[in-house]
Amino acid sequence: MNRKHLLAATFIACLFMLSCGSNQPASETPANSTKKEPGDKTGVAVTSDDSKGKGKFTNVELTHPLDQKMIGGGKAIYDVKCGACHKLSDEKLVGPGWKGVTDRRKPEWIMNFATNTDEMIDKDPAAQALLEKCMVRMPNQHLTDDDARNILEFMRNNDGKN
Ligand code: HEC
Repeated sequence: MNRKHLLAATFIACLFMLSCGSNQPASETPANSTKKEPGDKTGVAVTSDDSKGKGKFTNVELTHPLDQKMIGGGKAIYDVKCGACHKLSDEKLVGPGWKGVTDRRKPEWIMNFATNTDEMIDKDPAAQALLEKCMVRMPNQHLTDDDARNILEFMRNNDGKN
């Protein structure tokens, strides 16, 4: 095995470890593992997560049907603050595409991530795994609580929720 192959193998092993959202030290990961990510279209192998994340949002009330005013507010924020890094499809740009994000994450996780980005990236296992995959740390976007709720509604609309 030459140096290039060794590097590639190490990289794949790291990806595998992170995809499991595991906090175990590398030594506990099978060194010769060649297991690949299950098919996933986000381009960053985002695994789903049912935690609420870290932050002030512990119980978000969802609206049924969707609130059109909130969707409009969310779109305005998306256009200015998020669209440079997030597509609405499942394609990765700088960060993961948003298609399906409301299925992968709980509403509370999304709102905590949007308003408490630094602590989430520092402490939440799923957010840390995303950082490792995207190789870019999402900057805090200084959203208010209302902004975050509007963004969530915009994401739900993008995912065809009602
Ligand atoms: C400079 C690029 C950038 C901008 C601007 C940005 N993000 Fe991100 N975002 C990222 C990256 C990179 C990640 C992957 C996680 C990380 O950085 O740790 C991410 C991850 C996310 C996630 C988790 C996605 C998932 O699949 O679990 C959410 C939710 C999110 N961002 C919301 C937002 C919102 C809301 C805005 C606008 C207010 C925004 N982002 C603006 C780069 C960005």
